[in-house]
Amino acid sequence: MTVDSAYVIVGASLAGAKAAQTLREEGFDGPLVLIGNESERPYERPPLSKGYLTGADEREKIYVHPPQWYAEHDVDLRLGTAVTAIDPTGHQVTLADGSQVGYGKLLLATGSSPRRLPVPGADLEQVLYLRTAADSDRIKKAFRSASRVVVIGAGWIGLETAAAARTAGVEVTVLEAAELPLLRVLGREVAQVFADLHRDHGVDLRFGVQVAEITGSGGAANGVLLADGTRIGADVVIVGVGIEPNTGLALAAGLEVDNGIRVDERLRTSHPDIYAAGDVANAFHPPLGKHIRVEHWANALNQPQTAARAMLGQDAVYDRVPYFFTDQYDLGMEYAGYVEPGGYDQVVFRGEAASREFIAFWLGEGRVLAGMNVNVWNVNEQIQALVRAARPIDPSRLADPAVPLASLLAQS
Ligand SMILES: Cc1cc2nc3c(=O)[nH]c(=O)nc-3n(C[C@H](O)[C@H](O)[C@H](O)COP(=O)(O)OP(=O)(O)OC[C@H]3O[C@@H](n4cnc5c(N)ncnc54)[C@H](O)[C@@H]3O)c2cc1C
Ligand SMILES: NC(=O)c1ccc[n+]([C@@H]2O[C@H](COP(=O)([O-])OP(=O)(O)OC[C@H]3O[C@@H](n4cnc5c(N)ncnc54)[C@H](O)[C@@H]3O)[C@@H](O)[C@H]2O)c1
Repeated sequence: MTVDSAYVIVGASLAGAKAAQTLREEGFDGPLVLIGNESERPYERPPLSKGYLTGADEREKIYVHPPQWYAEHDVDLRLGTAVTAIDPTGHQVTLADGSQVGYGKLLLATGSSPRRLPVPGADLEQVLYLRTAADSDRIKKAFRSASRVVVIGAGWIGLETAAAARTAGVEVTVLEAAELPLLRVLGREVAQVFADLHRDHGVDLRFGVQVAEITGSGGAANGVLLADGTRIGADVVIVGVGIEPNTGLALAAGLEVDNGIRVDERLRTSHPDIYAAGDVANAFHPPLGKHIRVEHWANALNQPQTAARAMLGQDAVYDRVPYFFTDQYDLGMEYAGYVEPGGYDQVVFRGEAASREFIAFWLGEGRVLAGMNVNVWNVNEQIQALVRAARPIDPSRLADPAVPLASLLAQS
C-alpha cells in the first residue's frame, strides 16, 4: 500500500478511537493514523463531571482502550499533535511541526470546545471550564479547598458539576440566563424536575439572570456581579455556557460548514474522501428528514462506526434515534428522541414527576417524538421503538403504567 492509501483520523477522543476500532474490525489492514492534540490517549468525557469528578471512579475507567490496544491493532496514535491544515486536493494533512501525512480517506472527529464567557474578569484564575480530564482534575482540586462555588449555566455541565460540588460539601449558586435549567432541551414541564432536584439538594438556583462581570482580587476570581447589581461571592467560578463545534480546519479546507461540518447520512462531507462524526458533524438524519448535530456520548460512540464502514465502501447509513443520559445525585435518566426547542404539543407523564421515578413522553401530532426514563430502567429500547414507529399513540394508554409499553407498539 502507498501512503495515500492510509486512513487518517483527526481527533483522538471517543469518536476518533471508535472509528479506528471499527476500521480494524471491518478488516482494513492499511496504514491507520489517529492524530490528537491532547496528551492523553482517547478517553470518554461523561465521568469527568460525574464519578471521576466526585472521586468515585478511578482514572483508568475513563479510557476508551487500554494503552497497548493501539500498537496491538497497528494504529499509529500521535498524541499532543495538532493538525493545522487539510489539503483535500493533494490528499494530505499538515501537522503543527510542518510535516505532512497523506491520506486516502480522512475522518474529522475534532469534537467541540467550550464557549467562553464574554464578560470582564472571565480570564481570572479560578474561573474554570470543563472539557478535558485536566479540567476535571482542576475542579476536583478546587472543590477540596473551596467553600463557595458559583456555576454559570444550568445546562448539562452546570447541573452535573453543581451535583458533584454538593456531594463534596461545597455551597453552590447556579446562575442561568433562561427561566429554567435545560429549558431548550426538555421544555418547561420536565425542566422543572431538575430545578426541584437541585433546590432539594441545597443549590441556590437563580434564573433569568445576566452575568455582568466576574470580580477578583489578586488575580483570582472572588465573585460574580449580575447586571442588576447583585454580587455573589465565590472561591471558584465554573462556566458551562455551551460549546462550539471545532470546524476551523474544515472551513479553511473549503468543506461545507453550517452548525458543524455538514455531512450526508453516510457521514460524508462535501468532499467525497473526507468524512466527519461526533460532536462536530451536522449529519442528515433520514428518519427526521433533516440535518442534526448531536452533542452527546452515544452519537460519538456510534456515528464513527457508520463513518468507518462508509469509508470502506460499505452501504452504511446513520439513522439511530438520538440518545443521552445523565446522573445527578440519586437521579439517573436516559433520553431518546429529538425535539427542537418548543417543537412538541404535549408532555405525557407515566408516573409522578414529583416522585422522580417516571417516564416522560414528548408528543407532536399524537406521535412520540422523544421519551425520558427517570429512575426507571430497561425501558429505553421500547421508548426508542415508540419514537421510530412515528405514528399516533393514545396518550391515556401512554400515561397508564398498567399498560405495557410493548403493547402500545402493537396498537393499530
Ligand atoms: C464533562 C462532560 C461530561 C459529559 N457527559 C455526558 C453524558 O453524561 N452523557 C452524554 O450523552 N454526553 C456527555 N457529554 C458529551 C460527550 O462527551 C461528547 O458528546 C463527546 O465527547 C463527543 O466526542 P467527540 O469524539 O466527537 O469529540 P471530543 O470529545 O470533543 O473530542 C475531539 C478531540 O479532537 C481533538 N482535536 C480537535 N481539533 C484537533 C486538531 N486540529 N488536531 C488534533 N486534534 C484535534 C480535541 O482536542 C479532542 O481531543 C459530556 C461532555 C463533557 C465535556
Ligand atoms: N449528560 C449529558 O448528556 C452531558 C453532560 C455534560 C456535558 N454534556 C455536553 O457538553 C456540552 C457542554 O455542556 P453545557 O452545559 O456547557 O452546554 P448546554 O448547551 O447544555 O447548556 C448551556 C446553558 O448555559 C446557559 N447560558 C448560556 N449563556 C449564558 C450566560 N451568559 N449566563 C448564564 N447562562 C448562560 C444556557 O441557557 C444553557 O442553559 C454540551 O454539548 C452537552 O451536551 C452533556
